[in-house]
Amino acid sequence: MLSMFTAKPVSLTINDEIVIAQTSVKHSILTAALAANIAFPHHCRVGSCGACRCKLVAGEVKQLTDSAYVLSAEAIAQGMILACQSLPKTDVNIHVNLRQRPLADEPQGHGHV
Ligand code: FES
Repeated sequence: MLSMFTAKPVSLTINDEIVIAQTSVKHSILTAALAANIAFPHHCRVGSCGACRCKLVAGEVKQLTDSAYVLSAEAIAQGMILACQSLPKTDVNIHVNLRQRPLADEPQGHGHV
């Protein structure tokens, strides 16, 4: 009965090679990656810039906000998600360009990515 209320830890796999075991379903993918010292691209952390976009390859996530404000319909159809707004519901595997420049180095602007 108690297990019904206990959050089960899940694992986060990045680019099929980096595995973060025992992360919580209460932490976003971005939070879990940064806590593991992964240089995950990000900027706003609130779902408005798109810098943390990544592709969900396997698993399920709960999205905290509607990513359609930031991601195009085509990107969403291809499985793109916002790491800062996605809580893992199961073990997940995502693909992300870890060599992406931080958004802070680019001209400011918003729009579909
Ligand atoms: S860090 Fe800006 S949308 Fe996730």
